[in-house]
Amino acid sequence: MIATPENELYKPGTVLLAGAGPGAVDLLTLRCRDAIVAADVIVYAGSLVNPAVLDYAGSDCVIYDSAGMTLKEIVTVMIAGVREGKKVLRLHTGDPAMYGAISEQINALQEAGIDCEIIPGVSSVFAAAARVGVELTLPEVSQSVILTRRAGRTPVPEREAIVDLARHRTTMAIFLSVAALSDLVGELLEGGYPDTTPVAVVYRATWPDEKIVAGTLADIARRVAKSAIDRQAMILVGEALSRQGALSRLYAGEFSHGYRVGK
Ligand SMILES: C[S@@+](CC[C@H](N)C(=O)[O-])C[C@H]1O[C@@H](n2cnc3c(N)ncnc32)[C@H](O)[C@@H]1O
Repeated sequence: MIATPENELYKPGTVLLAGAGPGAVDLLTLRCRDAIVAADVIVYAGSLVNPAVLDYAGSDCVIYDSAGMTLKEIVTVMIAGVREGKKVLRLHTGDPAMYGAISEQINALQEAGIDCEIIPGVSSVFAAAARVGVELTLPEVSQSVILTRRAGRTPVPEREAIVDLARHRTTMAIFLSVAALSDLVGELLEGGYPDTTPVAVVYRATWPDEKIVAGTLADIARRVAKSAIDRQAMILVGEALSRQGALSRLYAGEFSHGYRVGK
């Protein structure tokens, strides 16, 4: 095992915020695993982080599930740990940069004079694409991906309404929205996607109980309703899911680039 030296991971007076990946334990990064091994205190998002990743923690590690805690309680635990000279790790699902609610934690820790470092993780958007077996960017079909969500209890700025984003007809990866799938489909159609557009809904990608429901905008709501998926799902939308695009120039025989002369 190639371990990251502990002193490179945990700097004094610093909290580590890490992405624990989408679910499967072997999709932890090596750095996240090393951070778990070395931690004295772990606060993990128990609603989505696979508790099996905690098997890497030492027997003396104190572990908190943040699912039942407020921001204030989470921050208090982390500040106390750092002040006692402990190695404190906050574990988020997927990659912390997507809907991780980390800004508010970083700000509160900074107010207490504590810095944070972030370890990236495998986001559910990429785990879902892998499980469906698709590339989200297909030449001449879609070269952009919009990562977004519908408004729920957390509002979304009006200028980012799904109907407006849908006007690009690019690939979209939609988090936190499966509970309102029928409304979402209506907005995507109103925005201009044809009803033949492929859609994949991936529930708990890479977990043992993963489910994938594939269809088009015309029938996905009905199919998902039958499967009883109403949470923890990634919604991938766009023609790129059809895999019917132009060939990439990168591997075209006549195309020269820094690593190969075209023939
Ligand atoms: C609070 S967000 C956290 C996202 C996370 N930071 C990430 O990068 O995947 C939770 C939402 O992410 C998506 N999600 C997280 N893990 C998932 C998984 N294993 N399979 C499918 N969707 C997942 C779902 O849309 C879920 O409602």
